[in-house]
Amino acid sequence: MAENTFRSPKGVHDILPKDHEYHTYIKKVIRHRARQAGFRRITTPMFENTRVFAQSIGETSDIVSKEMYTFADKKGRSLTLKPEGTAGVVRSFIQHGMNKLPQPVLLYYIEPHFRYDRPQKGRYRQFWQFGFEIIGESDPALDAQIIQLSHKVNEDLGIDGILTLQLNTIGLPESRTEYMQVLQDFYAGKERSLCETCLNRLDKNPLRLLDCKEEDCQILAKLAPDMRDYIDKESLAYHEELLSYLDEMEIEYTENKKIIRGLDYYTKTVFEFWDRETGAQNAIGGGGRYDGLIEQMGGQNTPAVGYAAGIERIIANMKREKIRVPSKDDLHVFVAQLGKEAKKKCLVLIDELREEGIKAMGALGKGSIGVQLKMADKFNVPYAILIGLTEVREKTAIIRDMQKGTQETLPINKVPARLVKMIGENNLDKYSPGELLYS
Ligand code: HAM
Repeated sequence: MAENTFRSPKGVHDILPKDHEYHTYIKKVIRHRARQAGFRRITTPMFENTRVFAQSIGETSDIVSKEMYTFADKKGRSLTLKPEGTAGVVRSFIQHGMNKLPQPVLLYYIEPHFRYDRPQKGRYRQFWQFGFEIIGESDPALDAQIIQLSHKVNEDLGIDGILTLQLNTIGLPESRTEYMQVLQDFYAGKERSLCETCLNRLDKNPLRLLDCKEEDCQILAKLAPDMRDYIDKESLAYHEELLSYLDEMEIEYTENKKIIRGLDYYTKTVFEFWDRETGAQNAIGGGGRYDGLIEQMGGQNTPAVGYAAGIERIIANMKREKIRVPSKDDLHVFVAQLGKEAKKKCLVLIDELREEGIKAMGALGKGSIGVQLKMADKFNVPYAILIGLTEVREKTAIIRDMQKGTQETLPINKVPARLVKMIGENNLDKYSPGELLYS
């Protein structure tokens, strides 16, 4: 490729029409499941004051310490492209006094997010996430509900069978202090076996050493003292209650005491959905409870729980499982014509067809009927309409069944109704914006 050809920046990509079919389908599933459960959609800005993320996700987290797209605006204010959704939602909850709404407040989002991650399979610098947040109440039944909802979405998308739910409790922050010291003591003298990242984390965020993916670090993590011997009894009881709800709903889980999560705001419940084959490297989603975050960001003491998943990773899994999504974009009809007069008839006919909900496209450029029919073949349409000189003169049109190769001639004004019958009412793409409005 020539040197001066433009390419997208490293780690970001176009969503081409084929992948949009997946995006559209996934968004539909999320909207449907969220609405069923009483969630309302929220969209927070693409960028926030940097403090919104620094103060919530944690200064020592990978996201804040090295993955944020931070820039100064013309007045020198530090702004950051959102690397995740929860912090912005919490900022918005506080700013708009949502604590005055009936609690809990159930919100969901489907948005692009940005992280200066090392680009590789399933890891991009702009990626789509959907997330659910339940803010305002603390009860293991709500954690169970978030998990159930995430699980349902996975089921709808056909990837539930290839995922495992990894579940843990990390207790209240106060109760973790002693354990962090215990961990530091445990790792003292073992520094040479640690990877560089863990070595850097040992001082400020030793918990993260437990979920490191490096083999040597994992061996050590297995030998580390058990966090559950140190965290508060209330969190342990809360966790037991959550497990009993999951059992009741027959949602399978794996208790994984090494799940810590990469964001600092979690309290008690944390969980991730892992790909059975590749494990934690490519968690498709994760979440947990964050009871302290709203107060920490200047709001009142308000408990919350949430989950978010990466849409690109879901699509990769769906493709691997050969799951196809219905393509709403497929055309029904291709209209071919010959001559200026035929073209006029075509323009009117195409409009009439579309009004009926028939997805129609015409080859309105030059080219013989044969060439146009070849195009129709390429678009994989079930039907073609042909209008040549004779048809214009006789006010007729030919409908051709592309698969059978059969055709019939009929008066042009009868074509829309005939095609509606052939395509089937249920397969039409009817659109009447007026009817969608409430009066
Ligand atoms: P997270 O685990 O950082 O959690 O991200 C959730 C999901 O976003 C990941 O499991 C992954 O599928 C996707 N993801 C993250 N980074 C990338 C990337 N660079 N490229 C592609 N996909 C990516 C959160 O963001 C929390 N806000 C979840 C949450 C909501 N907790 C409570 N409420």
